[in-house]
Amino acid sequence: MRAVTISSFGFLLVIAVTIISFCDGNCNVLCIESERQALLKFKQDLIDQSNRLSSWVEGEDCCEWLGVFCNNLTGHVKELHLGLLSSRPDVHAPHAEWDVEWDVYIRSKLGGKINPSLIELKHLSFLELSNNDFGGLAIPEFIGSMKSLIYLNLSWANFQGAIPHNLGNLSKLHYLDLGHNSLFEDKTLQWVSGLSSLQYLDLSHADLGKATDWLQITNKLPLLAELHLSGCYLYNDPSPISVNCTSLAVLDLSANKLSLVPTWIFSLCSLVSIDLTLNGVEGVIPNGFQNMSSLKFLDLSWNSFSSSSTLNGLSNLNQLQFLGLRSVGLQGNFSSAIGNLSSLTHLDLSGNLLEIIVPKYLESLCNLRELDLSNNGIVHEVSEIIESLSRWKLSSLKFLDVLNNRLNATLPQSLGQLGNLEHLDVCNNMLEGHISEMHFSNLTRLRFFRASNNMLTFKPNPSWIPPFHCESIELRNWHLGPQFPQWLQFQKNLSRLDISHAEISI
Ligand SMILES: *[C@@H]1O[C@H](CO)[C@@H](O)[C@H](O)[C@H]1NC(C)=O
Ligand SMILES: *[C@@H]1O[C@H](CO)[C@@H](O)[C@H](O)[C@H]1NC(C)=O
Ligand SMILES: *[C@@H]1O[C@H](CO)[C@@H](O)[C@H](O)[C@H]1NC(C)=O
Ligand SMILES: *[C@@H]1O[C@H](CO)[C@@H](O)[C@H](O)[C@H]1NC(C)=O
Ligand SMILES: *[C@@H]1O[C@H](CO)[C@@H](O)[C@H](O)[C@H]1NC(C)=O
Ligand SMILES: *[C@@H]1O[C@H](CO)[C@@H](O)[C@H](O)[C@H]1NC(C)=O
Ligand SMILES: *[C@@H]1O[C@H](CO)[C@@H](O)[C@H](O)[C@H]1NC(C)=O
Ligand SMILES: *[C@@H]1O[C@H](CO)[C@@H](O)[C@H](O)[C@H]1NC(C)=O
Ligand SMILES: *[C@@H]1O[C@H](CO)[C@@H](O)[C@H](O)[C@H]1NC(C)=O
Ligand SMILES: *[C@@H]1O[C@H](CO)[C@@H](O)[C@H](O)[C@H]1NC(C)=O
Repeated sequence: MRAVTISSFGFLLVIAVTIISFCDGNCNVLCIESERQALLKFKQDLIDQSNRLSSWVEGEDCCEWLGVFCNNLTGHVKELHLGLLSSRPDVHAPHAEWDVEWDVYIRSKLGGKINPSLIELKHLSFLELSNNDFGGLAIPEFIGSMKSLIYLNLSWANFQGAIPHNLGNLSKLHYLDLGHNSLFEDKTLQWVSGLSSLQYLDLSHADLGKATDWLQITNKLPLLAELHLSGCYLYNDPSPISVNCTSLAVLDLSANKLSLVPTWIFSLCSLVSIDLTLNGVEGVIPNGFQNMSSLKFLDLSWNSFSSSSTLNGLSNLNQLQFLGLRSVGLQGNFSSAIGNLSSLTHLDLSGNLLEIIVPKYLESLCNLRELDLSNNGIVHEVSEIIESLSRWKLSSLKFLDVLNNRLNATLPQSLGQLGNLEHLDVCNNMLEGHISEMHFSNLTRLRFFRASNNMLTFKPNPSWIPPFHCESIELRNWHLGPQFPQWLQFQKNLSRLDISHAEISI
């Protein structure tokens, strides 16, 4: 008996070793016939103008097909990656090129119908169909019976209609992304409570205006770490809501109809990121943020905080890296609270009515990479602002925008210490005086230099070779002439140059 056990154990061992060594080289587990047929049926119902699925042909190993991933021991299809990866063409590309690229991009989207044959893929854990164009198709009900799914991404794919409630049967799901389609939910999000493993939920751009229980339901998901509900027609709930601290770290409620910063947010003790942009929030910036000391990202842009709003409620956020307060109606004196936000890397205060800035509060922001103060009415000497920003010899500042203010005096030579600067915009201020080569001595990374409509003079030595290669230089209304600026010939990367009205005559 004992001998038999040992010998059959040995036999099993031989099989195991065979499988492992077989897999060790080129692991060629062939796909399972019924699954190949299911995939071929699925392909038949798709519209694939650019022939992305040309490798999907009868007789071939489906584990080798584009976007198909099999379990390398069992051969079962475990993942389907059919999202369109190529991103939208860059809108800044030249027109003709852009048209062609856009056409290619649109044609490479899959469309058509989604054949229920996918149910045959019993071991499918990952289904990605994002960024395609299913032409207003409803999300197929049968997806709710694909019980082994852990990841489901149907975002940006032009699905329309009601969200099927049986998706709530997918109790293994960790990621559910249905964002950026034209979906709606006209009763309740109760079905979501079935998704007890969910870590990530994105229903952005679905109309949830009638699903008033969205908060109670999502607050009960024990593992939820990210909730994206941008543009979902969410209003402030007039009744007091009690919310428990959960593992929620990222909350995106941008582009909704909130008229107040909801106070329940302050009970979510694990939050790291809050996006409340574009909501029409009115009133003061609440003090409740003071207790959210682990917050790293806070965007409150495009709301209308009252003129008496101060930033004092934010002064404890010493982990905060991103603060967005663009176009929120801030007035008057630049708040001292900013000085305590020493972890800030991005600060956007553009489009407000700020008049006074106290440069010393910028001095402690030694990690700052992007500072946008454009479109305010700031009256100050530019030199003091730049000197405060260059106080740290290894300044990490990359982006500085003070367009459209009332800054005066001249650019200081300490500008040359901002050796990481890539984007500098000081257009439409009241700067005057002489600029020298020294101002640019360390600006080797400068790519966008915009300074039009100031009264500055720049007449470097004709043999000066700039240390940078800009893509854009705008010096309209400067005093550059009468000689044509020789240094421009060394700019090998220019796509935009404005030196009009610069007194150049030769
Ligand atoms: C088989 O799959 C496992 C888990 O996905 C992976 O770690 C391993 O490298 C794969 N082996 C081969 C030979 O592809
Ligand atoms: C879903 O796909 C979109 C588009 O490809 C992507 O931006 C998004 O991050 C994906 N969602 C998840 C949860 O991975
Ligand atoms: C799946 O969900 C639907 C709707 O929520 C429900 O009626 C049905 O009983 C569920 N099916 C299974 C197998 O759990
Ligand atoms: C908060 O937690 C308490 C105790 O765990 C529980 O009784 C209550 O239902 C929870 N509230 C919400 C809104 O989940
Ligand atoms: C901050 O938290 C403390 C203790 O939990 C609480 O007493 C206080 O009211 C909170 N402050 C704000 C502004 O919410
Ligand atoms: C602006 O605020 C700072 C700090 O609160 C203060 O020292 C300064 O006097 C104020 N400036 C004006 C013009 O009100
Ligand atoms: C900034 O922090 C210091 C020390 O932590 C504190 O004394 C001061 O009150 C804070 N400033 C503001 C405006 O809250
Ligand atoms: C800049 O403007 C301020 C406020 O109008 C003024 O006090 C200061 O003298 C000006 N500086 C220069 C150099 O013109
Ligand atoms: C340029 O950088 C070097 C090295 O960091 C420094 O010594 C020099 O002072 C800088 N030049 C200017 C004009 O800031
Ligand atoms: C020119 O611009 C391109 C694209 O922005 C960049 O990759 C390249 O490094 C630049 N060349 C130089 C010489 O700066």
